[in-house]
Amino acid sequence: MAEQHSRFVSEKELDRQRAFIEKIRKRTAAFTAEKGRPPYYHILTFGCQQNEADSEILSGLATEMGYCESEDPAQCELIVINTCAVREHAEKRALSITGQLKHLKAANPAMKIAICGCMVSQEHRRDDIKFRYPYVDILFGTDKLYRFPEYLSARLDGGKRSFSIPDSEGTIAEGLPVKRKNAFSSYVSVMYGCNNFCTYCIVPYVRGRERSRRPEDVVKEVKTLVEAGCREITLLGQNVNSYGKDLERPYDFSDLLKEIDAIEGDFWIRFMTSHPKDASKKLIDTIADGRHIAHQLHLPLQSGSDDVLKRMNRVYTFAQYQELAAYANERISDLAMTSDIIVGFPGESEDDFAKTLEALSAVRFDSIFSFLYSPRKGTPAASMEDQIGEAVKKERFERLLQLQNSISKEKNDRCEKSVQKVLVMGRSKTDDSTLTGRNEQNKLVHFKGSDSLIGRFVRIKITKAETFALFGELEED
Ligand code: SAH
Ligand code: SF4
Ligand code: F3S
Repeated sequence: MAEQHSRFVSEKELDRQRAFIEKIRKRTAAFTAEKGRPPYYHILTFGCQQNEADSEILSGLATEMGYCESEDPAQCELIVINTCAVREHAEKRALSITGQLKHLKAANPAMKIAICGCMVSQEHRRDDIKFRYPYVDILFGTDKLYRFPEYLSARLDGGKRSFSIPDSEGTIAEGLPVKRKNAFSSYVSVMYGCNNFCTYCIVPYVRGRERSRRPEDVVKEVKTLVEAGCREITLLGQNVNSYGKDLERPYDFSDLLKEIDAIEGDFWIRFMTSHPKDASKKLIDTIADGRHIAHQLHLPLQSGSDDVLKRMNRVYTFAQYQELAAYANERISDLAMTSDIIVGFPGESEDDFAKTLEALSAVRFDSIFSFLYSPRKGTPAASMEDQIGEAVKKERFERLLQLQNSISKEKNDRCEKSVQKVLVMGRSKTDDSTLTGRNEQNKLVHFKGSDSLIGRFVRIKITKAETFALFGELEED
């Protein structure tokens, strides 16, 4: 299909970008020779794993251009803010940080500021930045990541501020440099964009249409990571179950999982996100029969009310969801299921909300991510009648959390006294004497141990369970 291939950024275009990288390298080398230190960059990332993965590419590009990462934005020559638009709160935070950069740039006029990501793929936000934040140098949407060197080079050469207009179809750029945050746990995007247009959601407007990477490109990337010692690979897509629909041959996400599962090594495969309307029994069977596929499934329900689901355009009923969940639990007895729930969707009645509570009691998720509905400009739900007041949303949210917390605690309690394989992620953020890892079900596990264990699989005897984490002791081999 010619159409599919046209989504790929051409080699010629990528070469053009490499020439801009070279050009900036000469400039940064001169900077280093003059100042006795390299120019520094700092990237701030909001939003989901997809944005984290994009920031690793931006980081790779900045590194190739001769910049060095710094934790301190005040001393940087280059600052990038990678934004999210999924809820108002995320946008407010990004705008407030952008506001704070004003005085940093005043103190260091050579600093270049780039804003990218989902928020600025919306026209009204592009205008906000253009007119209210005149010290922002360049702005580009998620589809133009690969042109970052070009935009930066033009601005460094004294060009005008640049504001790219997103291509709503989106692009796929292979072979961009990646500087990964973590060598033992990595994200790999398998597809980009979303075609579902759930009525509350901004993502399809800011991430373009669904497009799949070629299976061979994904498999090669995973193989390289595993060979380099990576222990956990999370495959990313807004709706991974749509993977392959735009490929030339019949090939779906389960086929991709099977190919990755055949790679030799000691590693876990995780993936997100599955849309319940497309999550098939084949997918569940693939997880059940896999060697490396973690027994964990994130399957966003959003609401337990069929009426609300319909108005959300989710295209499944709670009964259909429940049937799939039951099949998954039957096939994979130690499966952990997690979900997303939106509270206070327009028109959500007390009765609708009660159905969501009943759904939580029936499915018994290990944990959920719950959100207060946030109207997004340009989405159908934002102009629906009967928007729910903040006080009602918050009161329902509290009830939802109370119920879920008791379910999470009960589910975690069942892990007590078991021995779990855990990937050690690092030191606990709140207690420096403790290491934190994740088990196959993606539950947090805290225990005492030395730094040398970070990035390794260990065995932990669980001694205590709490609502949000398990605690245990290292089992010696
Ligand atoms: N593609 C994924 C996740 C998209 S965003 C999926 O379909 O599940 C992650 C979560 O944010 C969604 O699952 C939803 O629960 C929540 N979300 C999206 N838009 C929202 C909005 N306008 N208000 C509140 N929560 C929202
Ligand atoms: Fe948004 Fe729905 Fe697409 Fe998920 S599937 S990104 S919730 S539109
Ligand atoms: Fe946010 Fe964009 Fe992800 S809107 S949730 S960063 S896809």
